[in-house]
Formats: sequence, structure tokens, C-alpha cells
Amino acid sequence: MAGYIGTSQSRIDGVKKVTGAAKYAAEFNAPGLAYGSIVASTIAKGRIVHIDTSGAKRVPSVIDVITHQNRPSMADNDKAYKDDVAPLGSPFRPLYDNRVMFNGQPIALVVAETSEVARDAASRIRVEYTEEPHVTNLFQQLDATISVPQPTNPSEAVFTPPSARGTPEQALASAAVRHEGTYYVPIENHNAMELFTATAVYEPGGKLTVYNKTQGVQNVQRYVCGVFGMKPEDVRVLSPFMGGGFGSGLRPNFEVVLAVQAALALRRPVRVVLTRPQMYALGYRPAMLQRIAIGANSGGTLDAITHDVITVTSQNETFFRQETGWSALLYKSANATYAHRLARLDRPTSSDQRAPGAATAVYALECAMDELAVALKIDPLDLRMRCYSDRDQIRDRPYSSKALRECYAQGAAAFGWDKRNPAPRSMRDDGDLVGWGMATGVWDATQMPITVRIALSAIGHAEVACATSDIGTGTYTIMAQVAADSLGIPLENVSIKLGDSALPPSPVEGGSWIAASVSNGIATTAAAIRENLLQIAKTMPNTPLANVGPDDVALAGGDLVSRLDATRAVAIVDVMQHGGIDRIAQEKTTSPVQDEDRAHNTHSATFAEVKVDEQLGVIRVARVVSAVAAGRILNTKTAASQILGSVVWGIGMALQEETLIDHRFGRVMNANIAEYHVPVNADVYDIKVIFVDEPDDSNPLGVKGLGEIGLVGVAAAIANAVYHATGKRVRDLPITLDKVI
Ligand code: MOS
Repeated sequence: MAGYIGTSQSRIDGVKKVTGAAKYAAEFNAPGLAYGSIVASTIAKGRIVHIDTSGAKRVPSVIDVITHQNRPSMADNDKAYKDDVAPLGSPFRPLYDNRVMFNGQPIALVVAETSEVARDAASRIRVEYTEEPHVTNLFQQLDATISVPQPTNPSEAVFTPPSARGTPEQALASAAVRHEGTYYVPIENHNAMELFTATAVYEPGGKLTVYNKTQGVQNVQRYVCGVFGMKPEDVRVLSPFMGGGFGSGLRPNFEVVLAVQAALALRRPVRVVLTRPQMYALGYRPAMLQRIAIGANSGGTLDAITHDVITVTSQNETFFRQETGWSALLYKSANATYAHRLARLDRPTSSDQRAPGAATAVYALECAMDELAVALKIDPLDLRMRCYSDRDQIRDRPYSSKALRECYAQGAAAFGWDKRNPAPRSMRDDGDLVGWGMATGVWDATQMPITVRIALSAIGHAEVACATSDIGTGTYTIMAQVAADSLGIPLENVSIKLGDSALPPSPVEGGSWIAASVSNGIATTAAAIRENLLQIAKTMPNTPLANVGPDDVALAGGDLVSRLDATRAVAIVDVMQHGGIDRIAQEKTTSPVQDEDRAHNTHSATFAEVKVDEQLGVIRVARVVSAVAAGRILNTKTAASQILGSVVWGIGMALQEETLIDHRFGRVMNANIAEYHVPVNADVYDIKVIFVDEPDDSNPLGVKGLGEIGLVGVAAAIANAVYHATGKRVRDLPITLDKVI
């Protein structure tokens, strides 16, 4: 089985995307489509006393105004609102009652014949509130934090902090060299290009077809069924293309509830598109305040690590990840302690965003390691090598594979790290200060249960179907590559169906787990097709495959052929003809092999060069080398693109991104991508991606998954480079120019 896997392939959906043939949730039309516009609360906490909708209703071609007072019936228990990835607590219910829980909360939907009229009419709604005191500032809640809840079932245990080991306080006190620091990552919003949209098409008889931007169509389907008491066969959710998710589409968002509410109330199709400011009323990366203390002996190995984290969640739900669970994996230290506390704020619930937990916690650890290297007068890369561990430091077990050493070596060589002058402010280029920094990254290699259906025709065309999503990462393409190789047919003979809740079950696309899950799923189903063909082939007169076992045949070039003797082959078309069929279809579920004896992770080493204008403090990231160990790479082109994108987001995290709140109102002040800065082309220079060889036997294809690993460590590498350039250590992100001059 070789051919397409591991090669560079352009996206099979690329032409559709650049010609506009790829349709997104806001581009599906239906006769009689109406448009909804959201009215958002202007207070952070309290009750709605009165909503005056008369001004809106007077606008010609307004169809209706939906509020908590006249909405269709919704479930009244929390369980109905629990989506597949909901955190503990009580999920927010859009337009449920008169309670306001955060600024920007949807409190009414104006539905009109055009979107322009709906928006104009929405501005004519008048609301009276009774306000209650609110708190949206993490720093005002530091004395009121709670510890992360103890797990009530084993699946939640992955989110609790690692257990302490040894005697960290004593080890720290007696360490030859110590570094302590407090690091801060602000709230960041996902800022995907595509706005959240739901086009809910009401069909005669009450069925719904919902085109929704989401990372999990079946998650949304189950949620809509729960909230509105509908049957799965009456709700179909589609998301064939997605203009960026970054975790914001893991949970169903309020636009889908509002579109469905209106479609059910009016019995006609309704589309709700969030405005850019409304996108900031969804989940976000929680702000994170971290205190790290590291103690080392003079030889540059660690005696103690303490890592304490505070993140934010809402009043109604308890969102957290195992923040320190990635940083704790990396370095050998006999003594360590980890803590994680939460601050409740009157805001929407925080959520997964781009390597959630790891991107933030590893940022702090990797800056702290850089500071320790300075204190020890050891090269930062050398320090990492001295503290390197071949065993998972949390559970003291080996890795299924860990080629991080090779990432360090190949990344350093490509970057030219050995030419670094260790002294801060020692390197210059044409008047700019030049700084070189590096950092380690770690993420999970996860596989999830998934079901794949394949139909192979006699003439060698295959349709591969799974309800997974391609959130822009290239899932369509890697699915086609694996199917083509597994079935021995050309890539262009494969058609992929995904992003439809009616297809075989898939988990949400997140955690970088879909590539490993769906590729092995396809291989499993293709093997079932092969076995099926072999059974028929064995019944053919004078068959050359009479005594051949199912693992000893392959599908190649339109034939079913013995792996041991290539002259023993039959044409698939002849097998199907003999069996009186013109296609074979199989649907199989593939689950990961349970392997608790080994840790399963991906790793990376990032090397960054910054150039800093000494007078103005302007920072440019001139060069980045990212060396990644992520098992087998299915498609070198789309994989490299994922890492490029991640590095770009790392530049954003390091230098630009920050959601700013006016705490008097609890309102986001920069709820637009003019004032919330994200990297643009002019911020991005040379980025080189290296994939190091990393054979792994955790699953048959040796795939570990990509994407998020490309982000973890990038902000630290840049922050460390800024220190090296300027001699100034900035520990609160983003590192804006005012902080370095
Ligand atoms: Mo990712 S933050 O799991 O979409």
C-alpha cells in the first residue's frame, strides 16, 4: 500500500475553493429564505424587564421579532443542552428567559425579507434591564478562585493537574540556581475568516436541513434534537466547507439555535449570520496567569518545577483543560508540583482554541527554561538536551515514539543556531537588534472511534463517506490519498463525502485527532472490501487465489493480487461480474488500540529570529524554523501548510492578539479585526517547516496528527528571541512595542 500516502498532493477541493464552487453555510439558498439579525444585550448581568419591539415591527418587510417571550418551545433541563464536548455545568440557552449572563448575549432575533432590513429593524429595538453587579476582570477575582473539579468519571481525569512528586519546596530551596516568574496570556478570540452562520431550511412536515459552520455536524444534530425535542431523522446538519474554526466550532454556537427557533416559529427557511462583533460573544481562549519556579543544579539538570495556573470560565459552566499536563511531560525533574485554579467571570464560557492548554502552559514553561538557561549561562538548546526525557514525566512510561532530539538537531542545523552569540543585544543587522530564540512544543497524538463507508464500483471508482469535517486542514485530500492507496486506484477515482450528519459517525474534528482516526478508518473499511472481493474470487472457476489468506492479497491497478506472487491476480471487474454485482459497499467502525503503557504525543522545536527597531520597538519575526515529529505525514504539502498556519498564529499570540474588555460594562472593546490584531501578510516573513522521520506503531498507518503541534512553543520562541535581541524580558503577552522600548 504505497503511492499517494506521504507525497505532496494539492487539495482535491482546491479548484472548488478558488472558483467559488465550494459552498459555505451562508451560501445555501432556499425558496422563501428569510434573514435573522441578532439584538445583543448591552449589559453584562441582570434581567430584561421589558423589550419594546414595536419600532422594529413597523419596518416594512419585517416578518417577526423573536424573544424569550414568544420563542418556540425549548427543553428546560440542562442535559438537553449538553453537546458532545460541553464542559461541566449548565449550558447557556439562547432566548430562554429574561436572564442576561454576559454582554453581547443574544436577546432577540429580528427576521425580515432581507438581511439589510433585519439589521436596520434590530437597531430599533428598545430594552429595559435591571442590572446586577458583574465582574469580568480576572485580576479582581484572584481571591475568589476555585480549584478544578475532581473527575467524576475516568474520561475527565485527563483534565486534572498532574500529581505532585518528591519534595518540590525543599528541592527548590536548596537548588543551586533558581528562576521564578509570572507569565500572562490574555483572552484571545478565534477570529476565523468565515462568520458563524446557520441556514435552517424548514421542510414541509417539520423536518429541518441546517447548513451550519461547525467542526462537528453530528454534534450539532444531537444538540438541536435535544434543545427542540426533535428526532434525529428529522434534523440533518451539513457543513461541507468551513472557513476556519480553530476550536470555535467544536461546540454548537447560538446562531444555530436562533436560526432553528425562527424556522420552526415561521415554518420557513431562515438564515442567521453573526456580525464580526457578535463573533466575540462566543467562546474564547481563557486568560491564563501562571507562576513557575524552577530549580536547577549547576550542571544544568532540574531539581524542582512548580507550575501554578489560573484560568477563567463563566458563572454557569466550568471549562478547563489539563493546562499543566503538557508542560509537565517534558523535562526530567524528581520534584514537581502542579496546580490549576479557575476564576468565574460574567462572560460567555471560555473554550478550546488552537492547542488549548498546551499553547499557553508550554509558553510559560519554555520562557522560564530560557530564563533559567540565562541564569545558568548555558545555551538554551543545550539546557533542553540536558533535561531531555525519553519517558513521560507524569506517568513515568515510555513514548510510542518521540523524535524530539531529531527536531532539535535538524531545526538547529537549518536555522544555524550554532552561530548564535549568547549575549543579549549582541547581534545586529542594518541598525536593527537581532534576537534568536527557541522553544519546545508538545501535543497529543490521539485517535478516536470513527465509522467509514466505502463503495467500490467494478470500474474502480470509490465513494468514501464519513460525517467528519474538513475545517480547512486538508481532510478531503488525505482521505482520498489513503483510499486510493488502500484500494489501488488513482486519486481522481475517489470521491469524498463528509460534513453531513447523515453519513457514518465521526467525532468532532478537534484535538488534531481526525487524520489518525479517519485514515485508519478508511484502511479498515478498505480491508473489508478486499476480503469481500477475495471471498467471491475464491468461488471463480480456476481461481489463482484459492489458498490465499485475506492479509496476503492487495488491491492494485484494478486487480486483486497476491502479495507473495504477483502473477496470481484477478481483475476486480471480473470478480464483481462473477458475483453478479457492480459495486461492493462496506461500513466499518475503527477504534484506537488501548495502549496505556505508553504515552502518545507529537513534538516540535521552534527556532525564531526577530529584528527589533531600537528606537520604535517594532518587532518583526524575520525567520522561523519549525521542526516537527508527528509520526507518518500523509501529505507533505497540506501538512506543511498546517504548520505554516500554526506558526503564523504563534506570531499573533506572541506579538498581537488580545481581546480587550472595558470592565465597567463587561464589554469587548476591540470586537473587530481592525482593532483585534492578527498577523497579516506583511507580518510574515520566512517560515521553514521540517518533518523529521518518526516511525510509530500506535496505529496501522503510523499517523499521529498535526496542526496544533505547530503552534505550541512558537510564542515562547519569539518571546525568547525578543529577550535576546533587546535584553528585556516581557512576560505578559502580547509583546507590543510599548513593552520593549
Ligand atoms: Mo481544536 S482547538 O480541538 O479545534
